Amino acid sequence: MVNLVLAYPEEAQPARSLALALGCELALVQRHVFPDGESKLTLPAALPAHVVLWRGLHQPNAKLAELMLLVPACRELGASHLQLVSPYLAYMRQDMAFNPGEVVSQRHLAGLLGGWFDRVVTVDPHLHRIASLDEVMPAGRGHALTAAPLLGDWLASQVDDPILLAPDEEALQWVQAAAKAKGLQLGACHKVRRGDREVQVTLPTGLNLVGRQVVLLDDVASTGRTLAQAAVAVRAAGARSVDAAVTHALFMPGALEDLAAAGVRHVWSTDSVPHPSNVVTLGPLLAAALS
Ligand code: R5P
Repeated sequence: MVNLVLAYPEEAQPARSLALALGCELALVQRHVFPDGESKLTLPAALPAHVVLWRGLHQPNAKLAELMLLVPACRELGASHLQLVSPYLAYMRQDMAFNPGEVVSQRHLAGLLGGWFDRVVTVDPHLHRIASLDEVMPAGRGHALTAAPLLGDWLASQVDDPILLAPDEEALQWVQAAAKAKGLQLGACHKVRRGDREVQVTLPTGLNLVGRQVVLLDDVASTGRTLAQAAVAVRAAGARSVDAAVTHALFMPGALEDLAAAGVRHVWSTDSVPHPSNVVTLGPLLAAALS
């Protein structure tokens, strides 16, 4: 049971849909930023027992500092059971130390959030080297949903007989989940990352793309280089069209232009991160998990 959804004004729209689906009220966090960058936050004067806080964690650093203040404040004001809905959970890609001393952000951030909240609900967190959030949060605190079947339904309604392609091996899990319901053909590329914007993507062997309509599917796009390099390879292999779908549309400035230059026709995403490419709404999926 949820009594109240709490959200920031810029996320009021998806949070309101969630509150409606749950049949509860929505209240907004008021925020003032002082000239020196510190935040003053104001909450309703009293909170009910079961509160859901909606906070997407794209561009996460300032948001995390405010969560550090909001959580104890919510508890003081009456929220005895506090859940976080964060459709995009930040820092999940730093999941191992490639060099001695590198901080494994996934483990530490998940541990912090799992300590602050009674439950953390998220969508397609980047779980590559671990099987579940239970490995990095107190058991049962993390709840990971997947948008892949919803994206699969969407792209199957848009593209005739598509081939779904993961731009790297890590994305195969989402491609398999998206392809399953409609029995779509699929494959996974191999990716080597040499820097933030430097990736090399190789197509899988034995997959004939000549004349085919290919949809690239990944959990997240940031610089867009992964999708762009995959698209170039797909076009060079003779595909008729290439589209791209992601759960989390981070898309840094210039990314969409790069994708267009690489021959990507359409870019689709869920509303996990507000973006013009949003076509799939996560509200019902999240509400089902919370009710
Ligand atoms: C990592 O493996 C993720 O699944 C994405 O492929 C990656 O984060 C995309 O980043 P970018 O858009 O910067 O290539």
